[in-house]
Amino acid sequence: MVFAENKNDILKKIKDTNSFEDLEKLRLYYLGKKGVIPEALKGLASLSIDEKKTKGQEINIIKKFVEDILREQKTIIENSDIAKKIKQETIDVTLPPSIKTVGKIHPISQTIFNIIEIFGNLNYSVETGPDIETDFNNFTALNIPEHHPAREMQDTFYLDSDQKNNVLRTHTSPVQVRTMLTNKPPIKIIVPGRTYRSDSDATHAPMFHQVEGLVVNHNATMVDLKSTLVTFLEEFFEVKNLEYRFRPSYFPFTEPSAEMDVAYTKVNNKIKIGEGNNWLEILGCGMVNPIVLENCKIDSKIYQGFAFGMGIERLSMLKYGISDLRSFFDLNYRWLDHYGFSILHNQTRSGL
Ligand code: DAH
Repeated sequence: MVFAENKNDILKKIKDTNSFEDLEKLRLYYLGKKGVIPEALKGLASLSIDEKKTKGQEINIIKKFVEDILREQKTIIENSDIAKKIKQETIDVTLPPSIKTVGKIHPISQTIFNIIEIFGNLNYSVETGPDIETDFNNFTALNIPEHHPAREMQDTFYLDSDQKNNVLRTHTSPVQVRTMLTNKPPIKIIVPGRTYRSDSDATHAPMFHQVEGLVVNHNATMVDLKSTLVTFLEEFFEVKNLEYRFRPSYFPFTEPSAEMDVAYTKVNNKIKIGEGNNWLEILGCGMVNPIVLENCKIDSKIYQGFAFGMGIERLSMLKYGISDLRSFFDLNYRWLDHYGFSILHNQTRSGL
């Protein structure tokens, strides 16, 4: 009979449990269908009305007591369970990383590190600019006035009405403008960064990366431009005697302008850059248009320069054999694990 146990005995029993299983056993023992309390209540049937009343009250008080203590103990076990879990999940951030759990460097970042390293060796410094640009820096100063058809070539993201004259930069070229407006020549910079165009398919993403190059001094020539780009590409693709060609082209900010193609061969469905009968367009370049120099308060009678711009995704895809541009931005960890680079093997000059 339940009353063989007093409240203190019951309390002690329940308080001694420290698992949900043991607690459940006790709940069934006291309150389950065949538990001691329901059984005691059933036993009241044979008693007189008065006894039923007093005994019934006693049992119900005990019942309520047991229910309260069980609930209390459940919360205690729950909390200690959480505490245990938290303790187990504690990370000691001062420990050295385990190679297995460390993330990888994204191929785009790796490509940028690589580009910076090569141009760093050629004494270029790195400049950056904001993703949101003024219409002036992105277009007008670069000799792309309003209503110029070249604006239509770039599907621009314009910002909302309260920022009428701002755009998401469509290329890294506005950083040329920023640099020339704030620095005196000689200037020798590269500008890696994010760029945006309203375009999306297997070969275009609305956000992508470019690297811009700009040299302004007294005597920069097309020959310097050419040898710089050949040196860069030979280093980047790790090939000697790169086969290339320059084709005349048009950019409002350079005059003359050219596009550079590199030769490639397809071996087992993989592209091998350096030689072959196929050509792949890799970048745009030219001599800085004197109009742009003047727009940026640089005297075009004294200074001249060259510039170039290329897409980082394309360089990365060609170097690492990545076939779909969209995979760069899929946030697929397995993909990153395969194409990414170990942090511990990364040495960069820039620390970017
Ligand atoms: N800004 C050009 C684009 O987005 C790329 C480019 C071409 C940059 C020629 C240059 C250049 O500096 O000289 O397509």
